[in-house]
Amino acid sequence: MYNDNPTLNLQNKTIDPNKQGEVFFKEQKEGQENKKKFYIESYGCSMNFSDSEIVASILGDVGFTATRNIEESDLILINTCSIREKAEETVRKRLRVFDKTKKQKPDMLVGVLGCMAERLKKKFLEEEKLVDLVVGPDAYRDLPNLVASAETGEKGINVLLSREETYADISPVRLGSNGVTAFISIMRGCDNMCSFCVVPFTRGRERSRDAFSVVAEATNLYNEGYKEVTLLGQNVDSYKWENPETGEVVSFAQLLVMVAAVHPDLRVRFSTSHPKDITDDVLFAIRDYENICKYIHLPIQSGNSRILDLMNRTYDREWYINKVKRIYEIVPDCAISSDIITGFCSETEEEHQETLSMIELARYSMSYMFFYSERPGTLAARKLEDDIPLEVKKKRLSEVIRIQAQVSYQHNQQDIGNTFKVLIEGDSKRSDKEFKGRNSQNKMIVFPKKSGIKAGDYVFVKVNDATSVTLKGEII
Ligand code: 5AD
Ligand code: SF4
Repeated sequence: MYNDNPTLNLQNKTIDPNKQGEVFFKEQKEGQENKKKFYIESYGCSMNFSDSEIVASILGDVGFTATRNIEESDLILINTCSIREKAEETVRKRLRVFDKTKKQKPDMLVGVLGCMAERLKKKFLEEEKLVDLVVGPDAYRDLPNLVASAETGEKGINVLLSREETYADISPVRLGSNGVTAFISIMRGCDNMCSFCVVPFTRGRERSRDAFSVVAEATNLYNEGYKEVTLLGQNVDSYKWENPETGEVVSFAQLLVMVAAVHPDLRVRFSTSHPKDITDDVLFAIRDYENICKYIHLPIQSGNSRILDLMNRTYDREWYINKVKRIYEIVPDCAISSDIITGFCSETEEEHQETLSMIELARYSMSYMFFYSERPGTLAARKLEDDIPLEVKKKRLSEVIRIQAQVSYQHNQQDIGNTFKVLIEGDSKRSDKEFKGRNSQNKMIVFPKKSGIKAGDYVFVKVNDATSVTLKGEII
């Protein structure tokens, strides 16, 4: 789900590698020519992309419009990611580029949003003097005030994390949208203390959003012509919202069903699932509702029980295998994908082999694969030695990538001859004579266009060819 290392993603659903740092753009309407303009780039997970849409809405309310032209912008925002060192490096490089633009246009403001804000506020504001604004993920409502104070020459900073903020009442402005698929953030933060992960520190405590506001957002999207929503959270299966009026508690399985009930033509996806929290009720909902997609992103991180324990993942290899079995038992046509980290602290060659065998055992349709990168402040940074040499981490990563490519290839070959219901997302990357779309299992399928059919339509496509990344077919 993260895009600081796009070359390592075999089939990247939510973050297209070419979209890294994509400039979001909202058409300027007539009469808005003199309004102030902001330019925003997003890095990292889907949640960050979704947050940028909340930021666009908040800025829109105080008269800003979006632009994709840095030179004409009054405010440059960069929504940052801290998950791995490389993501942070990328952001630093971009800030140096913006700094050059700012030298030619001194009134322009530059702001850092998101996960790097809390971690590096001091450095950005005081030492490097690269930015005018630093705003953490729970402080976006304060952006108009912070921009106003930055305009007077004061530094605008708010990195306070909240236990309540879910931005439930804010209607995101869909940026860079294909008009067919959209993200809906259903919760924020994370209470799982995976020892390698910085997210609990940068995004704070877990909190779930009002279920009715989620359903209302899905309904609005459907009425605007969208055909697919992805419910987002760091750990969606621990979604839990208590209705303050009735005391009734809505679980993730119940929320899924509520959103699926918006309309049978609105597809529902979700990400990310933690193996320890996904319940049979969620699997039954996937089985029982045609429009809940048969696809689960179920990160394993490592295939070895000792490493999983050091990672504080709270499950072991056997437990995970049983979970995968249960998924295939209840939803036989489900595709499962994963996140994998190689070279975590003290990982031996034998333990790494267990990760390789897990890819085959679980039959992942694809994985996001990374080598371990120590993050300051995490449990692992404090308690464990980052003792696997970089070359070894990278070698193990290349093995994981190789095995996953083989498994993905086999997975896709098995689809040849089968027919899938595909939601058309737009033209394929290669040709405007072809459409691209996804099946329920989240596989990208490319096929020749037919007259009278457009993006947003469902079509039945028979698969006649496959690589490890894409299926090819024809409308039947
Ligand atoms: N090093 C490498 N990969 C990491 N991830 C999270 N933290 C780190 C880290 N310190 C990966 C995990 C997670 C995904 C979003 O990013 O696989 O599931
Ligand atoms: Fe990080 Fe673990 Fe939370 Fe995912 S579940 S955001 S890996 S702490």
